[in-house]
Amino acid sequence: MTVTSDQLVEALRPVEDPELHRSIVDLGMLRRAELASDGTAHILVALTVAGCPLRNEITNRVKGAVADLDGVRDVALEFTVMTDQEREDLRIKLHGSPGATAGQGQAHGHAEGRAIPFSEPGSKTRPLLISSGKGGVGKSSVTTNLAVALAQAGYSVGVVDADIYGYSIPRMLGTDRQPTVIDQMLLPPEQWGVRCISIGYFVPEGEAVIWRGPMLHKALEQFLTDVFWDEPDFLLVDMPPGTGDIALSLSQYLPRGEVYVVTTPQPAAQKVAALSAAMAAKVNLPVKGIIENMSWFTGDDGKRYELFGAGGGQLLADDLGVPLLGQLPLVTALREGGDDGRPITAVAPDSEVAAAFRAIAHTIAVDLKPRKIFSPQLKVI
Ligand SMILES: Nc1ncnc2c1ncn2[C@@H]1O[C@H](COP(=O)(O)OP(=O)(O)OP(=O)(O)O)[C@@H](O)[C@H]1O
Ligand SMILES: [Mg+2]
Repeated sequence: MTVTSDQLVEALRPVEDPELHRSIVDLGMLRRAELASDGTAHILVALTVAGCPLRNEITNRVKGAVADLDGVRDVALEFTVMTDQEREDLRIKLHGSPGATAGQGQAHGHAEGRAIPFSEPGSKTRPLLISSGKGGVGKSSVTTNLAVALAQAGYSVGVVDADIYGYSIPRMLGTDRQPTVIDQMLLPPEQWGVRCISIGYFVPEGEAVIWRGPMLHKALEQFLTDVFWDEPDFLLVDMPPGTGDIALSLSQYLPRGEVYVVTTPQPAAQKVAALSAAMAAKVNLPVKGIIENMSWFTGDDGKRYELFGAGGGQLLADDLGVPLLGQLPLVTALREGGDDGRPITAVAPDSEVAAAFRAIAHTIAVDLKPRKIFSPQLKVI
């Protein structure tokens, strides 16, 4: 018994486009699948864009799916590229037309006031805003490793690097590829199971972002609307330090956002972090928990040294009446992993700090999961 063309197509249906995470058959990328009498499977796949960075991955997946079928001796795989019209159709099918919603939401600066999918009541995505009162406390490191830990737990995870002037997530996550653009829809690069968008993909290496406020709003709006996030379970936002403009507009774009404050153990940092919490209160977003970073350093003698003092995280948590979700030690490998795009949670899952990130991820995902509120006034009819 040898397979028919229909059976080839069925065998290819589970093959997903690596960026779109959808079946290549359902996406209309499979253009031909025929078995010749000599046992060669002739397959034609239309790539979304020319020079598709994941062409090799698609090749492996397609060949893997049909190579072992009865009667298939060889696979002759050819590629073509979608036309502009096909790309537009695909974008509309997957993502609609976010630009057409201009004027429906809050407009700031150059932003158009588009509808933000994460602000819809039915959105299943939990936006986690990782913030702090001052810089350098480890916000981006926490965002990156927490995102990886959530992905390891099986959740779909996106990261928005909202620190426009001081972006660092692409380097920390190790996503050096540019986003693929399909007719105004951006596909976020993915690494360690985490998708990410950052201004870092759009400015030349080493150049500073010199935009003024109005442009920042536009960029953030596009990060939330033009990117094909595909309803992830979590959208982590690496907030810029402090309580500025970006924080304010993000809180309006993400009214269902949950704020997590990163702080270091010394009481001075705790005071600044309290400012960030006050900001969250002002814009009506709940602080859900505190994460203390750089809590101690374990020396070669096995002793814990509290280089930055102790107790700041707990103090802030008590002040705000929210839980201290975890304490992260100072470890050289965490910094090195951040510099090389190899997050410690991904590459050293057995380490003390990776375990701490997993525990925090579990608390957020399970214990702090918002309960559904059933209102007796709301009836489905
Ligand atoms: N627990 C830790 N152990 C060792 N190094 C750490 C730890 N946390 C953060 N670092 C390092 O400290 C530096 C600052 O951390 P990070 O960039 O995450 O902070 P940030 O709050 O995002 O800073 P910024 O305000 O500049 O955005 C980085 O080099 C990072 O690798
Ligand atoms: Mg940062």
